[in-house]
Amino acid sequence: MGKLSELQLDRIYPQDCLHMLKKLKKNSIDLIITSPPYANNRKKTYDGVPIEEYIQWFLPISLEIKRVLKPQGSFVLNIKERAHNGERRTYVLELILEMKKQGWLWTEEYIWHKKNSFPGKWPNRFRDAWERCLHFNKQTKFKMYQDAVMVPIGDWTKQRFKNLSKTDKRRDYSKVKSGFGKNVSNWVDRDKVYPTNVLHFPTVCSNVNHSAAFPIELPSWFIKLFTKKGDVVLDPFMGVGTTALAAKELKRHFIGAEINQKYRKHAIKVIKEIVSRKTKDASKKNKYHR
Ligand SMILES: C[S@@+](CC[C@H](N)C(=O)[O-])C[C@H]1O[C@@H](n2cnc3c(N)ncnc32)[C@H](O)[C@@H]1O
Repeated sequence: MGKLSELQLDRIYPQDCLHMLKKLKKNSIDLIITSPPYANNRKKTYDGVPIEEYIQWFLPISLEIKRVLKPQGSFVLNIKERAHNGERRTYVLELILEMKKQGWLWTEEYIWHKKNSFPGKWPNRFRDAWERCLHFNKQTKFKMYQDAVMVPIGDWTKQRFKNLSKTDKRRDYSKVKSGFGKNVSNWVDRDKVYPTNVLHFPTVCSNVNHSAAFPIELPSWFIKLFTKKGDVVLDPFMGVGTTALAAKELKRHFIGAEINQKYRKHAIKVIKEIVSRKTKDASKKNKYHR
């Protein structure tokens, strides 16, 4: 197990993330993915920060995140602005602008579509069924393993590719002048394609002891896209450790902080269970192959 300055890899530290981040070495982390506490209107708690203070609270953290991220690494921030007094608040948009002033490049915005969102009725809007996953970088050239997240092309191609027209065989630019072009024949005989920037994952409904835990598919998807085996993934707001679990399952290292002892203990218990299950599976395999 490696070390990152005075901190150990594969640990969740029981402390304020700002304190923990300051102890990490500069340019030492491959991917940072996190979902910070929500903005709320209550007094500051572990579970929320007042809307008016949100940007000033987060900026020192994003600055430290920038310091510890490798130059070719990525930072994925899962966040969604609250609606308050009948309107969406703008603090996430303002935060993006402030982070750009810190030197961050805002590379992309992925949408997490919560595909199991339960129906409801609100007077001036519909049920919120998506959240932002903002992708930031320190430079335009960064590590991205796109082939690792390819998806099946789907059965519709059998019919579509049967008889290709002349237009299908050359690059065809959009008739509505959007600037978008495609060459259909390039995709014949392929069974996989690159995904879109909309990710369809259900929210977690089972008993994970946390009201805002990631579905494991979410950190897993970004870990596959932005890291390779042995790389280091950081989550400064670890909650019940979903990012750590995803990293462990994908053979990456993890490190993080969680201020709430109940959540941290849960995370450590689940990680230990996985490690012991894997060790048992491996020894069973060895027994039969000796
Ligand atoms: C939205 S939850 C993250 C859930 C996590 N993604 C998971 O899958 O379990 C935010 C977490 O940040 C923790 N937290 C709040 N302030 C913190 C701080 N300053 N340092 C570290 N953890 C903090 C909260 O206790 C909460 O568990």
